[in-house]
Amino acid sequence: MPAKSSPDHDRLQQDYLNSHRGSAASHRQALRHFAAAGATHMIRVADPFRPYVTHAAGSRKWDVDGNEYIDYTMGHGALILGHSHPAVVAAVQQQAAKGFHYGENHQLEIRWAELISRMMPIAERVEFCAAGQEANLLAIRLARLFTGRRRILRLTQNYHGWADELVALGAPGSVAEYVTEVPLNDRRATERELQHGQYALLLSEGGGAHMAGQVPIDLEFQRALPELARVHGTLYCIDEVVTGFRDAPGGWQELSGVTPDLATIGKCAGGGLPMGAVVGRADVFEALNPSAPPERLVRHAGTWNANPLTASAGVAACSLYLDGRPQQQAAAAARRFRDSGNQLLRDLGIRGRFHGRSIVHLYLGPIERDNFDPDFGAPSTEPGQLLGTEYLPLSTALKMQLLMRGVATLRGGMFIFSAAHDQADVEQTLSALQDSLQSLLREGSIPATLRTPRPEAPDG
Ligand SMILES: Cc1ncc(COP(=O)(O)O)c(C=O)c1O
Repeated sequence: MPAKSSPDHDRLQQDYLNSHRGSAASHRQALRHFAAAGATHMIRVADPFRPYVTHAAGSRKWDVDGNEYIDYTMGHGALILGHSHPAVVAAVQQQAAKGFHYGENHQLEIRWAELISRMMPIAERVEFCAAGQEANLLAIRLARLFTGRRRILRLTQNYHGWADELVALGAPGSVAEYVTEVPLNDRRATERELQHGQYALLLSEGGGAHMAGQVPIDLEFQRALPELARVHGTLYCIDEVVTGFRDAPGGWQELSGVTPDLATIGKCAGGGLPMGAVVGRADVFEALNPSAPPERLVRHAGTWNANPLTASAGVAACSLYLDGRPQQQAAAAARRFRDSGNQLLRDLGIRGRFHGRSIVHLYLGPIERDNFDPDFGAPSTEPGQLLGTEYLPLSTALKMQLLMRGVATLRGGMFIFSAAHDQADVEQTLSALQDSLQSLLREGSIPATLRTPRPEAPDG
């Protein structure tokens, strides 16, 4: 990929440095503390660096140099209401004045659980913890005690956290002796593994692999999973840390019509403050009951479980999720962007498509099928291609091009929408996208394999 050394790329880097001098200074300081190239999350590592942000509101955020961005990182997906929604801010401010943490029971945790179980009918019980991955770890432990089995079955490319049994198999430094992965959407392989009768839990991401379905889960496969697990004595958990309350009040379960034994939630459920929770069948949670025999008792601690500050944000946000309006607004803005973005790709003769609901993913590569349903499908069924590893440098270049034009994405090809994104945001983003792609075309960063004769015809 020529982008790295081309004059356009160098000019872009220089322009970025010129317009981000304050961020450059902060980056130099950060390098002294944070080993990951000055970043505090691997996805925020960037060459030369990402902006240092001072404040955010609605769909926008601003950096130390006064640059304004339309924000598509949206708290890594946690902010379906947009930044600093007034109702959530008011709730947190009031609660902060009343106390951060009582080290006691409080009524907000009950209201929060009630809202969650109203939206997610499987939630006969709710167990709060501090983050999405903690919820997945707890789901694993509960399933082990419930089934008396050890092994966990996961689907490839599905992300559940960075802890040992959640991170991709073989990740350096991780131990996952009791975890098996089968290919996403491979029903026979899943069934074959479950038949061994060794699995405590089958775990899959809501919507498919990566942020609600960068690699979409096939709906037929999805709908088969609860029964496949049940007949083989395995509990089934949907990881709704991203999709929970973002896709719909009832999350991915509502959209897909699937009823798992357990679900894990996080992100949006906390209204923007850190949390996680396992929800599901009451009998599976009996291991948390202190009267359980000692050898079957899960002693679930955690300083931050349902802390009042987060609970206040969670209650305020979940109250707004109930009628599904914020979710619909986010999805409508995303749809306008996605569909116009696809027309733009066709017009520019770039082989690629946008797909997704309130999180829109850019796929670059051969279009296997152009009549896919962009809410639930993608132009390719090949996970490796959908994950875009082949075109990573291009998507990184696109990310920088967009940043320079006031559009902040975590990856160049991922746009996380919220109810705060309006028509003006969509139009400005499309215009930034068009300029960015044209610039990448001009500098020769879009390889021939991604070019089509115009007007573009689907491959195959
Ligand atoms: C599907 C999914 N599950 C779990 C997690 C982990 O959540 P947390 O980062 O809150 O631990 C994430 C984080 O992005 C996620 O996308």
